Amino acid sequence: MVTSETVGNQAEVFNYGVVRQFAIMTVVWGVVGMAVGVLIALQLIWPALNFDIPWLTYGRLRPLHTNGVIFAFGGSALFATSYYVVQRTCQARLFCDKLAAFTFWGWQAVLVGAVITLPLGYTSTKEYAELEWPIDILITLVWVAYAVVFFGTIVKRRVRHIYVANWFFGSYILTIAMLHIFNNLEIPVSMWKSYSIYSGVQDAMVQWWYGHNAVGFFLTTSFLGMMYYFVPKQANRPIYSYRLSIVHFWALAFTYMWAGPHHLLYTSLPDWTQSLGMAFSLILLAPSWGGMINGIMTLSGAWHKLRTDSILKFLVVSLSFYGMSTFEGSMMSIRTVNALSHYTDWTIGHVHSGALGWVAMITFGSLYYMIPRLYGRVSMAKPGLIELHFWLATLGVVLYIAAMWIAGVMQGLMWRATGADGVLTYSFVESVKATYPFYMIRALGGFMFLVGVLVMAWNTWLTVKGQPKVNPVVPLKNPDARDPALVGPTEVIA
Ligand code: HEM
Ligand code: HEM
Repeated sequence: MVTSETVGNQAEVFNYGVVRQFAIMTVVWGVVGMAVGVLIALQLIWPALNFDIPWLTYGRLRPLHTNGVIFAFGGSALFATSYYVVQRTCQARLFCDKLAAFTFWGWQAVLVGAVITLPLGYTSTKEYAELEWPIDILITLVWVAYAVVFFGTIVKRRVRHIYVANWFFGSYILTIAMLHIFNNLEIPVSMWKSYSIYSGVQDAMVQWWYGHNAVGFFLTTSFLGMMYYFVPKQANRPIYSYRLSIVHFWALAFTYMWAGPHHLLYTSLPDWTQSLGMAFSLILLAPSWGGMINGIMTLSGAWHKLRTDSILKFLVVSLSFYGMSTFEGSMMSIRTVNALSHYTDWTIGHVHSGALGWVAMITFGSLYYMIPRLYGRVSMAKPGLIELHFWLATLGVVLYIAAMWIAGVMQGLMWRATGADGVLTYSFVESVKATYPFYMIRALGGFMFLVGVLVMAWNTWLTVKGQPKVNPVVPLKNPDARDPALVGPTEVIA
């Protein structure tokens, strides 16, 4: 039997300490961020749930939710998985343990800063970039350290080839650095207040260049890095087409950058920029689906595993949601469709089919794969609970997004309905009233999703607390050998 001592010795091969820390914090922040999500969903039904306390008001808790789920839950998951994957696929220990530890503590400090300042009402007012300038500076420092650790590990790799998952992780790290710096160029006027250096329509343009690429690189490209490692590993099959993965990478990275203006259709942004954004959003469907197909087809010959393997279910369902939300996004970029969907809950449905269905589900699958290995266990303590989590999450997300789609289309149609005399058929408040039942269903779906995360937290706790049963780290392989579960024994790599 492997003792905690041997776990320690083996861990000298790879730095699993920081991966474990980020993995655990992913679960913790998942609970926090989604609990706030459920609270604001309930506030939309019963506004009195702010208890007349300023820091519990909807306007302050909403950015807390978005920062909590995107940067705390999603961010911690990305640090954990990118550090795990880069070490395994490069067959090298992380570059500089101290710097890696700094990224963990620095990132947690950023998140705690968000939890304190956002409810207090300190905000730069830019969506998904609300944090004020002192925290922005800390983010920059952590991110530079992250880049040094990640690319440093690539440089010291013992395998000549750089596996495609690392390309996706690497491009997300570089792009987020660029987006963060340019969108947050601001002039501080006090310790907790700053103003953007851009004004008017330029400010909007830069903000949504940032906003869309935050979706594209923080919530998509990076999670595709996860997909390219954990799907083949869990299915124990090589990636369907390695060549397609390279085409997927370049096409996605090139196309995403241009699509931002679809957030600003029918605004004072020059018309040609809006058309450009719309055209690139339609083109974006091709690489998005190329990636999805590559992931799903990796299961060729292993479909039967889906009957019994709950982790694989998470991974495959996440890919289906990825396909669905990207198709929907491309459609919503068409001006005439956007004229109906914009400002309605349809957008919220789209966001959560991507965020819950794709981002959260692929994270759950990857964590269930990784956690037992990080702690030297054969599997999660209660494999049956993974299946329970899967069904809670799947039903939860379906309730959430179906409710928001119906509500959104209904709102759009009610707002544009006019009588023969040209007068609006419905007042705004009538559309709010008609939305209540759907808010109830959304809150129920969100609650189920949250219960699923709590089940995961409990399972993780039992797994971590249990006795180590297997050696967590397989000894380093022959540096020239490629992992057959990733690229196949005979694949020629482009
Ligand atoms: C228990 C699960 C969740 C619930 C109940 C929930 C609920 C909500 C609610 C009520 C809103 C505000 C909608 C509005 O203003 O009309 C919201 C916004 C948002 N949520 Fe969630 N959420 C959950 C999970 C997540 C996750 C996991 C992510 C990302 C990974 C996420 C990302 C977002 C984003 C980006 C927005 C802003 C959307 C926009 O401005 O268009 N949510 N959420
Ligand atoms: C081909 C891929 C995609 C395209 C073309 C696309 C397009 C769009 C469009 C047109 C909107 C509505 C803009 C508006 O009316 O204000 C939107 C909103 C949004 N999408 Fe997507 N989407 C894609 C994929 C995704 C994915 C996979 C996610 C999440 C993981 C996501 C997250 C969001 C968020 C958070 C918003 C709300 C932004 C805001 O107003 O706060 N999108 N997207």
